[in-house]
Amino acid sequence: MSQGRPEVIAGRLLQSVSDFAAIGATPAGGVNRQALSIEDRTARRLLAERALARGFTVFQDDAANLFIRREGRDATLAPLLIGSHLDSQPTGGRFDGALGTLCAFEVLEAFSDAGVETDRSIEIVAFTNEEGSRFSPGCMGSMAFCGAGRVEDWQADDPVFADELKATLQALPEAEIRPTGHVVSAFVELHIEQGPVLERENVPIGIVTGIQGTKWLEVTFSGEAAHAGTTPLAFRKDPMAAAAVAIARMQEEIMPADQEARLTIGRISTEPGSINVIPGRVAFTIDIRHPDAAALAAIERRVKEQCHAAGRRWGCDAAIRSRLDMPPARFAPSVTAVIADTCRSLDIRSRTMVSGAFHDALYVGRVAPSAMLFVPCRNGISHNEAEFVSDEHIVTGARVLLGVAQRLSQGQFHGSG
Ligand code: GLV
Ligand code: MN
Ligand code: MN
Repeated sequence: MSQGRPEVIAGRLLQSVSDFAAIGATPAGGVNRQALSIEDRTARRLLAERALARGFTVFQDDAANLFIRREGRDATLAPLLIGSHLDSQPTGGRFDGALGTLCAFEVLEAFSDAGVETDRSIEIVAFTNEEGSRFSPGCMGSMAFCGAGRVEDWQADDPVFADELKATLQALPEAEIRPTGHVVSAFVELHIEQGPVLERENVPIGIVTGIQGTKWLEVTFSGEAAHAGTTPLAFRKDPMAAAAVAIARMQEEIMPADQEARLTIGRISTEPGSINVIPGRVAFTIDIRHPDAAALAAIERRVKEQCHAAGRRWGCDAAIRSRLDMPPARFAPSVTAVIADTCRSLDIRSRTMVSGAFHDALYVGRVAPSAMLFVPCRNGISHNEAEFVSDEHIVTGARVLLGVAQRLSQGQFHGSG
């Protein structure tokens, strides 16, 4: 086969980003394409149809991770994996996840257009439920892929998840279901930075050397539902009072004491949720992040103490359940070096950075040398419908990903370490 020079076609890539942004589009210009929803299935179908039209192989695994494969020269070599996710937050942007998946697809198309034969096969992945907004934990697909979590456990825990997973797998009968967790030689994920550093420094590519740790907790205070007007203070077992005290303590103590700590209460619910009933139950989530594993564990302990103390103060029981426990991770220097080398050879400025957000690469990094590259986003805004990445930065990111894929798909790249 005669081989040309593979090139990113800017118009095709940008059109593809806007085609996918239309799936689950919100009136405010964002995307609501939560994991395993109809919208998520529609996006998977579109990607699969485009892949089949190009002659690529499409398959899924038991976790509904979606793979697209372009064959390499040597079937005995493990494939290079590139990609990200297609699910979004309920009021998400059009780039978080989709951009990395679509840039990866552009890379495959560029290789095909140029008739390039790579030594290794290249596979694109769209991992299932990276966001974790509809079903906990986040990064389910990549956890299952690397053996850090079991689909069966999540199915047993949540019948809605079990039904939606089944429906999503069935919605793509063209894609054979293969066992979860096949061997790959390396993984590279392109993503938007979701923070302000690259834009502020006017640097188009971030080379991600690691990801800070995350813990998710679900706290439930149980008290006694009672009449709002007739129940004197001494008789109240008010879980909302307990939650309010616990949350205020966390907000006042954790982040002010440690510049690197992050703590977010993103979801709260009360039962029965009536204006004139002292609630019987209040539940809320806590998202804690820190780059240092010991500091993260210490914050978790402190937060639990605060919840139990607030429960005692208001005569309520505090039940705390861990929903996600992701230790900080370091990416493979062998892969970050290839990204740096590619940027140099394309004369594109870059800087190294640690990711404040978690990503599927954190888990894949446990089974194959992995790393990420970031592109800037406007004002660092993400998990927000206003999320924005310029066309120029999208295309630059895809060009770097293409160069990285060219290098890593060579048979001699073995990358461990
Ligand atoms: C990913 O979506 C994260 O919350 O870091
Ligand atoms: Mn993401
Ligand atoms: Mn996200």
